[in-house]
Amino acid sequence: MTDGPTSQNERVAIVTGAARGIGAAIAERLVGAGASVVLADRDVDGARQTAATMAGLAGQACAVGVDLADRSSILGMVDQAQQAFGPVSILVNNAGIMFRTRFGDIDLDEWNGTLQVNLTGPFLCTQAVMAGMKEAGFGRIVNIASSAGRSVSTLGGAHYTASKAGLLGLTRAVAKEMAPHGVTVNAVCPGLIDTQMARDTTSAEELQGFIEAFPAQRLGTPAEIGSLVVFLCSTEAGYITGASVDINGGDLMM
Ligand SMILES: NC(=O)c1ccc[n+]([C@@H]2O[C@H](COP(=O)([O-])OP(=O)(O)OC[C@H]3O[C@@H](n4cnc5c(N)ncnc54)[C@H](O)[C@@H]3O)[C@@H](O)[C@H]2O)c1
Repeated sequence: MTDGPTSQNERVAIVTGAARGIGAAIAERLVGAGASVVLADRDVDGARQTAATMAGLAGQACAVGVDLADRSSILGMVDQAQQAFGPVSILVNNAGIMFRTRFGDIDLDEWNGTLQVNLTGPFLCTQAVMAGMKEAGFGRIVNIASSAGRSVSTLGGAHYTASKAGLLGLTRAVAKEMAPHGVTVNAVCPGLIDTQMARDTTSAEELQGFIEAFPAQRLGTPAEIGSLVVFLCSTEAGYITGASVDINGGDLMM
C-alpha cells in the first residue's frame, strides 16, 4: 500500500452540491487547505460563480454540472474531475434534497426522488471513485448525513429521515470494506445549519423557536461543517472510519 497524496495540496476532491450552502463552505475550506476541488452541482452556473470566489486561495477550484439522479451524469462528473486535476482522492457526498410532506401524503415519485439524490447518488459516486482510491492506497469519503439519520428529522418527512439513516448504514458498510486499502469513510450529521435549504423550508418564527430550544442557542454555520470535513479528510484522521460525527450545538446528544 502506498502513502497516497501526503498533503492537501496534492489532493483532488469532488464535493457534490457545492454551488451553495454547506457544500460551498466545504469546497472553500478544502481549496483553502491547498486541494484541487471540483464543485459539482446541477446548478452549474451557481457552481461556477462559487468556484470563482475561491481564486487566490491556496488550491484550485472548478465547476462541473451533474445530476445525482442520473448514473451516466455521475460517471461523466468523475471523468471530468480526473481530466481537470488527476485521480480523485477525496469525495464529499454533500448534495441532498428535503421535502416536509407528511407521511400519508408522500407519493412514490417524491419518495423515489429523495432516495435517489440522498442515498443512491452517494452509492454511485462512491462506486465511481473507489477503484482509483484503492489503487492509490489512500482515500477519504465523507457523507453529509443529518441528525435526521441518527434520530428523526426536525423538519423533513419520512423519506428524508429514511434516506439519511440509510446513508449512515452505507457509510459503515463501505468503511469496513475500504479500511484495508487506506480509505476512510465517515458521515457528518449536522443539526440545523443556516443555509437556503433551512430558510426555504422554515418560517422565521419557526426558526426562532428552534434556536431557543437548542442548548447552543443558535443555528450552526456552513463554515463549521467545512472545518470538520477538512479534518476528516486529513492524514491525521486516518484512524477514524465508519463514524457518524454529530455537529448540532447540543440538540442531539448520544
Ligand atoms: N441545512 C441544514 O440544516 C442541514 C442539516 C442537516 C443536513 N443537511 C444536509 O447537508 C447537505 C447540504 O445541505 P444545504 O443546507 O447546504 O442544502 P442547499 O439546498 O442549500 O444546497 C444543496 C445543493 O445541492 C444541489 N443539488 C440538489 N439536488 C441535486 C442533484 N440531483 N444533483 C446535483 N446537485 C444537486 C443544489 O443545487 C444545491 O446547490 C444536504 O445533504 C442536507 O441534507 C443540511
